[in-house]
Amino acid sequence: MDQDALKKQAAEAALQYVEGGVIGVGTGSTVNHFIDCLATVKARIEGAVSSSEASTVRLKQHGIPVLDLNAVGDLALYVDGADESNRSLSLIKGGGGALTREKIVAAASERFVCIADESKLVDVLGAFPLPVEVIPMARSLVARQLVKLGGTPVWREGFVTDNGNVILDVQGLQIMEPMKLEQQINNLAGVVTCGLFALRGADVLILGAEGGPRTLERS
Ligand code: A5P
Repeated sequence: MDQDALKKQAAEAALQYVEGGVIGVGTGSTVNHFIDCLATVKARIEGAVSSSEASTVRLKQHGIPVLDLNAVGDLALYVDGADESNRSLSLIKGGGGALTREKIVAAASERFVCIADESKLVDVLGAFPLPVEVIPMARSLVARQLVKLGGTPVWREGFVTDNGNVILDVQGLQIMEPMKLEQQINNLAGVVTCGLFALRGADVLILGAEGGPRTLERS
């Protein structure tokens, strides 16, 4: 099976967690498969809270109502992809640049089901460059601080987030203490948020795999 087929398999398996109400929906190619699956049960749900303009477009194309998080309160379920997960279900996210809204919807949700192909499971986070969303005027300042934290930040030139900010992708990290690093980076002046999801990691990780989907739960 190719990687896309494994992503689709994980997305289909996540449908069993949909019980109705309003669903939090992430961003990315794996989530696109999930949105397509969600469309098959759209009569059972009230709508979705979206984490990006791209997901909003796809949800609306399927006729799934997109609701404002401010109007719906807490959500029972959030489904999103990841760029990396460790076995504690701490994640790196933001490869698509939607990390801040993803973190907001994850924080508002009781259960976070992460969907990915099995290549995303790693022993140590950091081989995938860690995205950090930054207020534009603070780009160089934050980059210098990230170097002090041991990383090599690279400006994602030409990319503007849905919130009008820029992204620094931090290479060369071996993240042994994800919660600590998430706090350290989020405390830097000018950082909106970093793509570490450790303080609020996933509750369930569904991995598309050759022998069928594998599910890991936060212990
Ligand atoms: C979007 O900003 C990201 O957090 C995605 O969830 C992540 O990049 C996974 O993307 P794919 O599902 O496309 O691999």
